[in-house]
Amino acid sequence: MTKWKSSKRLDRTRSISKLNTFESRNWNNEYALGNWSFLSEPNEQWRMALIAAIAQEFACRTVVDVGCGPGYLSAWLDPNKFQNYVGIDISSEAFGNPLPSKLERTWITTALEEYYPKKRIDGSALIFSEILYYIDNPDFQLERVAAALNSKCIIVSNTVPGKRYAKYQQRVAFVWSALEELGWKRLNDITLTNHPIGDVSESKDVEPTSWRITAFRPHDE
Ligand SMILES: C[S@@+](CC[C@H](N)C(=O)[O-])C[C@H]1O[C@@H](n2cnc3c(N)ncnc32)[C@H](O)[C@@H]1O
Repeated sequence: MTKWKSSKRLDRTRSISKLNTFESRNWNNEYALGNWSFLSEPNEQWRMALIAAIAQEFACRTVVDVGCGPGYLSAWLDPNKFQNYVGIDISSEAFGNPLPSKLERTWITTALEEYYPKKRIDGSALIFSEILYYIDNPDFQLERVAAALNSKCIIVSNTVPGKRYAKYQQRVAFVWSALEELGWKRLNDITLTNHPIGDVSESKDVEPTSWRITAFRPHDE
């Protein structure tokens, strides 16, 4: 039985909006317009495969995917290793076309800020893939949900914005420094880089796309 170890700080005031770069978005509209259909492309799916492999490495049977979008991660979870997948997203439009999976899947439409799990899911992997830099108090919300679920490992994936995206660079840096301050044990720190096809050695004009993926363990073992 693990015991949840809360960090020293649960700071509601640490707000990304203070960066003056926070904007509220209409996610339903964005999905309805097809703005996020690119998430199904192979270039975006490799990071899902990696997240699934990390969750498996840490022997998690249930995956709770916050800001899951279409829930593509569930299709990468081996049904012999995982039992359940819970996809949570603020947008009901996001769940439109999930890829097939043999897992038992539950879809919950809610904002992370309003997600108060009714029961603990011991031994779960809690995933925050490309969502925390859209959240006003990312570390506060993450720690609150992780504690409520008694999560075994927490996997965060954030894009590594290119030089042209100063606003996103600020937000992503904010998220990583907030997570660092939680003082959780970092289990790994992986950067995945996808160069445009055919340009692996000569990508001068087109910046490669990168993601930084880190797993944390907040428990006393
Ligand atoms: C960039 S997409 C990432 C989707 C998927 N996790 C992935 O890695 O491809 C961000 C997702 O976060 C969801 N989202 C944004 N703000 C949210 C919030 N406050 N609570 C829950 N979901 C949110 C959006 O609807 C969207 O599906």
